[in-house]
Amino acid sequence: MLTCPLCQHPLYPQPQGLGCSNHHHFDRARQGYYNLLPVQFKRSQDPGDNAAMVEARQRFLNSGHYQPLADRLTQLATGIAPAISRWLDIGCGEGYYSARLATTLPSAQGYALDISREAVKRGARRSTDITWLVASMARLPVADASQDLLISVFSPIDWQEAARVLKPGGKILRLGPGRDHLLELRQQLYAEVRDYQDDKHILELPETLSAESVERIRISLSLPSPQSRSDLLAMTPHGWRASAANRDRIIKDGLTVTIDGRFDCLVRRPA
Ligand SMILES: C[S@@+](CC[C@H](N)C(=O)[O-])C[C@H]1O[C@@H](n2cnc3c(N)ncnc32)[C@H](O)[C@@H]1O
Ligand SMILES: [Zn+2]
Repeated sequence: MLTCPLCQHPLYPQPQGLGCSNHHHFDRARQGYYNLLPVQFKRSQDPGDNAAMVEARQRFLNSGHYQPLADRLTQLATGIAPAISRWLDIGCGEGYYSARLATTLPSAQGYALDISREAVKRGARRSTDITWLVASMARLPVADASQDLLISVFSPIDWQEAARVLKPGGKILRLGPGRDHLLELRQQLYAEVRDYQDDKHILELPETLSAESVERIRISLSLPSPQSRSDLLAMTPHGWRASAANRDRIIKDGLTVTIDGRFDCLVRRPA
C-alpha cells in the first residue's frame, strides 16, 4: 500500500524500516515514523512548518480552542465510516486531528503525512495507531486507488494526487478557512482587510472529483491568555507578516476572534 518515493514500487516491512524490490530502503526513525522524502525532492533543507510554529500550534490545539472543529470533522468521518478501511491525513501537522480520527475509526488503518519532520515527530508521540510519514503531498507515497478517505485540515492539497490515491467512491474531507476566519486578528494587523474568496480551492477540480457538500462552522473564540494569543500569531501566516509593534499589542491586549471553518466533502467519481 505504501509505495517507494523513488521508483513507486510497493514498500514492504524490513528489519529496520521499509524497502522496495529495487533495494531502496527507508529507516524507521527512533520516534516511530518513516522518512519517505528523499533529499533530492526537498526544496529546502528543512521544508514545511518549523519547530517554533509546530510547537505553538500544538500548545494552542491542546488548549482545546479548535475542539469544535475537530469534533465536527470526526462526526463527518463517522458518517462515512462503514466504508472506511484506510484513511490518510495530508498535511497532518503535529497530528491533533489525525489522532482524534484514529480514535474515532479504531478498525481502520490510518496514515498521516507532513513535509515537516518536526511536525511528524510530534505526531508519532500522539498516537501509535497511525503510520506517520515525512512526505510531500505533491507525491503521495501510497498506491493508486488505495484510500477510502483523505483528510486535509488548513493545509494545501494537490487535487490530482488526491484523486489518484482515492478508490472510486472514496471521499475527501477538507477543512479550510472561511472568509471571516480570524477576521478580528486580520483587522488589527492590516490597514485594509482583503476579502477572501473561500471557494477558490474547489473551482478547478480534476474531472475525477466532484464536490458533494459544503458546511460551515462559526465560533466566537475568546483568548484571554497572552500565551494563546502569541501561539495563534505564531501558527498563522498573518502572525509572521505582522510588525513587531502589532504583534506586541495583540499579545498584551485581549482578543476575541471569529473562527470560520469551511468543510468541503468531495467524492472520487467511479472510473
Ligand atoms: C497550517 S498547517 C496545518 C497542520 C494540521 N493539519 C493542523 O491543522 O493542525 C499546514 C501544514 O502543511 C504542511 N505542508 C506544507 N507543504 C506541504 C507539502 N508539500 N507536503 C506535505 N505537507 C506540507 C506544513 O508543514 C504544515 O504542517
Ligand atoms: Zn524503490
